Amino acid sequence: MFDLQGHCALVTGAGQGVGAGIATVLARAGASVIVNDLHPDRAEKVAAEINSAGHRAVPSAWDITDFDTTVDRIRLAEKELGAHVDILVNNAGVAEGRWNLPFRDLTPDLWRLPIDLNIYGALNCTKAVIDGMCDNGWGRVVQISSGSARTGQNINVSMYATGKSGIEGFIRHLAAETGQFGVTANVLALGQQSNLADVMPAEIVDRIVATIPIGRLGDAEEVGAACVYLASAEAGGLTGQTIDFNGGSQTR
Ligand SMILES: NC(=O)c1ccc[n+]([C@@H]2O[C@H](COP(=O)([O-])OP(=O)(O)OC[C@H]3O[C@@H](n4cnc5c(N)ncnc54)[C@H](O)[C@@H]3O)[C@@H](O)[C@H]2O)c1
Repeated sequence: MFDLQGHCALVTGAGQGVGAGIATVLARAGASVIVNDLHPDRAEKVAAEINSAGHRAVPSAWDITDFDTTVDRIRLAEKELGAHVDILVNNAGVAEGRWNLPFRDLTPDLWRLPIDLNIYGALNCTKAVIDGMCDNGWGRVVQISSGSARTGQNINVSMYATGKSGIEGFIRHLAAETGQFGVTANVLALGQQSNLADVMPAEIVDRIVATIPIGRLGDAEEVGAACVYLASAEAGGLTGQTIDFNGGSQTR
């Protein structure tokens, strides 16, 4: 079950954190993987680790907010792997820059950053692969989102959440338009992940963990395992859904 041999996956923002876990587990399940990241060194490191474990990956560094570059780099990586992307995981979502401010302190140049990445970045990648999926009669799109898309929080993420809400709506419509061609599209809405512990003071992490029913932060490889399921042949009947993957936290 859940065998991805013969499939080709693109994971965006896969040079570290959640995306690295997703790329690693998809490769372990048999997919060949394009490891995208803005930073070449990060993409190369993750792809090298996958290859040295006996699986197949190519690193490909580009900024997914640029449509033309996105199309060019995907076609190049597909040529290198001798396959067409039929599994897309839109994972990149944490934009670089000072966007995490209260809305009243944001200006248009700053508030565009998370929206460009979460909406246009995901649209660019989806546009580049969706015709191939539909023409071949099989495809899987997994969108990584966040519980913040469906709540209100006073933690300076209003524009990030705006991007996540927007792309969640798009995925429902994409699923409705492409289901007839054997393509599914779903959202995994994550709770707080273990990489937060690297960037947040321990006492704040402890306070967050105390609100999570499973009593710990999320694990990138567990998110990868959920992606393997959503990408599998066995998940062909599951589409247009937003699945909370957050250790049991309430998101509304
Ligand atoms: N970490 C969490 O607690 C958490 C919680 C909820 C949702 N998420 C979601 O999970 C996903 C991954 O989060 P993470 O914490 O692993 O992020 P991260 O910042 O640790 O890693 C993301 C990677 O994306 C890359 N990236 C950024 N902009 C890019 C661009 N324009 N083009 C290509 N690559 C780009 C970065 O270089 C980075 O290596 C995001 O969509 C995020 O919103 C994370």
